[in-house]
Amino acid sequence: MSCILIFAKKIEMMKEYKRYLITSALPYANGPIHIGHLAGVYVPADIYVRYLRLRGKDVLFIGGSDEHGVPITLRAKNEGITPQQVVDRYHKIIKKSFSEFGISFDIYSRTSSKLHHKTAAEFFITMIEKGEFVEKISEQYYDEQEQEFLADRYIKGTCPKCGYEDAYGDQCEKCGSSLSPTELLNPHSVISGNKPILKETKHWYLPLDKYEDELKQWILEDHKEWKSNVYGQCKSWIDSGLKPRAVTRDLDWGVPVPLENAEGKVLYVWFDAPIGYISATRELTKDWEKYWKDKETRLIHFIGKDNIVFHCIIFPSMLKHEGSYILPDNVPANEFLNLEGDKISTSRNWAVWLHEYLIDFPEKQDVLRYVLTANMPETKDNDFTWKDFQARNNNELVAILGNFVNRTLVLTHKYFNGIVPQSGNIGGTEKEIRKLLFQYKKGIESNLENFKFREALKEAINLSRLGNKYLADTEPWKLIKTDEEKVKTILYHSLQICAAIAVLSEPFLPFTAKKLKQFLNLGNVSWDTINEFDILKPKHNINTVELLFEKIEDEQIQKQIDKLMATKALNDKNNAQLVAAKSEISFDDFTKLDIRVATIIEAEKVPKTDKLLKLTLDTGLDKRTVVSGISKYYEPAEIIGKQVCFLANLSSRKIRGIESKGMVLMVQEPDGTLRFLNPDESSVAGSTIG
Ligand code: MF3
Ligand code: ZN
Repeated sequence: MSCILIFAKKIEMMKEYKRYLITSALPYANGPIHIGHLAGVYVPADIYVRYLRLRGKDVLFIGGSDEHGVPITLRAKNEGITPQQVVDRYHKIIKKSFSEFGISFDIYSRTSSKLHHKTAAEFFITMIEKGEFVEKISEQYYDEQEQEFLADRYIKGTCPKCGYEDAYGDQCEKCGSSLSPTELLNPHSVISGNKPILKETKHWYLPLDKYEDELKQWILEDHKEWKSNVYGQCKSWIDSGLKPRAVTRDLDWGVPVPLENAEGKVLYVWFDAPIGYISATRELTKDWEKYWKDKETRLIHFIGKDNIVFHCIIFPSMLKHEGSYILPDNVPANEFLNLEGDKISTSRNWAVWLHEYLIDFPEKQDVLRYVLTANMPETKDNDFTWKDFQARNNNELVAILGNFVNRTLVLTHKYFNGIVPQSGNIGGTEKEIRKLLFQYKKGIESNLENFKFREALKEAINLSRLGNKYLADTEPWKLIKTDEEKVKTILYHSLQICAAIAVLSEPFLPFTAKKLKQFLNLGNVSWDTINEFDILKPKHNINTVELLFEKIEDEQIQKQIDKLMATKALNDKNNAQLVAAKSEISFDDFTKLDIRVATIIEAEKVPKTDKLLKLTLDTGLDKRTVVSGISKYYEPAEIIGKQVCFLANLSSRKIRGIESKGMVLMVQEPDGTLRFLNPDESSVAGSTIG
């Protein structure tokens, strides 16, 4: 019995699909693409698709801009232009930068297109006709002055969970809680700033609560193989109880609700956007239904972690209950990439923008692709730093891959006029090389098939390491004087490794692979050609060579770091919420303050508090105890001997049972950080300040 079960499982795992449909999240067309988008979604999707193509699979790679949603209309309002103008601008920038970066979409479409509106409307109507939605009238916030309902990000207020004052109606960006508008404290309209009223409105809901059992079965039982971050998030959504979700909004930008008496209503952006994958496929090929409706298609969504619930729970529920579509087989979501230790943010301009990178580092697409793959946030958030970018280029791409290929090709030109030599009898080293090469190839395959892109890349680089070691061990440049036959064997084998690199690195480094194929005079070879070792036959002519990679100098990196530092300085300045000015006082009021220099002679933590330090001060006049709320910022040991400014005639207070006489003056930065105020140079304790 168990034997049969295991067997069945095996077959399931090896299931061969007839075709593949690969989608990548449609980025909002309200800003350009940055490295976070790339590492999270587009680089892994592109690697995967290129791999499938090399294996000769029937595959479509779908992308496009998500052009609806409130952030877009808000931006339009702020800039005094129409939403269409906003999306036209960014769609163009995004599309161009993806194409220059080598993201090999079969189509890059957009959701403001006619065909998309039609497709989304049809989808909605089918679900209406099947009676899948629940209609509900509820009270929602309404801006009386503007005569508009305040959907999603049109309303802001204080987060009930963490007290953040600038939380959106759908989400608090500080603590990450998802919210509904009526949960906000002190709600106000983003358009007018006014306090909204509640007004009745009708909407259509997807009854996720009714789908709970089937979702449990489909995800938690049938898709245990999903990445643990994805599976875990789904489980937590399901376990916390699913609620009906409104799929329409009172807005004027989006796909109009295709019903009578639904004026001023559009489909919710998260309802129409994923249907964008379908519309784009439909735009691309007459055969679109084969890709979307035939069980022998494998559908895979590449997304970032903030999109998990939409792609694993909501969209599949839509597909299933529309009734004619297949469901995704996997949703390999990545976590987030940070930049120099900070969260990437479009609004704070804390990002490396793709279109700028392409200008600053022309012809270096593969360097960025390489670094983003090596640091891909597959299982946890990860960090991009410019120093690491430089180091990986110089120490890995230049020193390992570039170096091996260059040495092999230059030596072939030098010793054999660029003609692939005939190998002599091979020894143990060559046998080992043949074995390892196939092992690395297998490693790349199984890692890619399991969405382990970082590991796959390591195996691809191992090919060059192998080649370098072979050259270093055999030293053909020395051997050439004594044993030309042996050198033929060495270069023959090194050239075969180069050919393997040209093919097997293509998913990761497509520009490099293309150049290398050109150097090797190698036509279009498929992935499985590499199952044979002898790709480049003796007497085959190779072409002239150039360097594949060049060193990146410190100055180039410093320029990028300086740019980020300037952004940081600007943000800090904008963020500084200075304490409001106080009312005027007289000079006499001021002279009442007895401010002096004092020296800290003892310091200790006040037990059972996490803020307070008990300080003993030498004030020149006396020694006294002061309690100060600075424990978060200073260790007792490090402040003994420090001079501080001190208000000596403040009436004494008991704090935690300790008599505190006076107050140490502190600088409080806008973010709340406290620092001592010190005399410029050491002064006699008791010196007065005024
Ligand atoms: N625009 C969304 C985001 O950037 C992603 C939409 S994915 C789709 O988070 F499925 F809805 F298209
Ligand atoms: Zn919050």
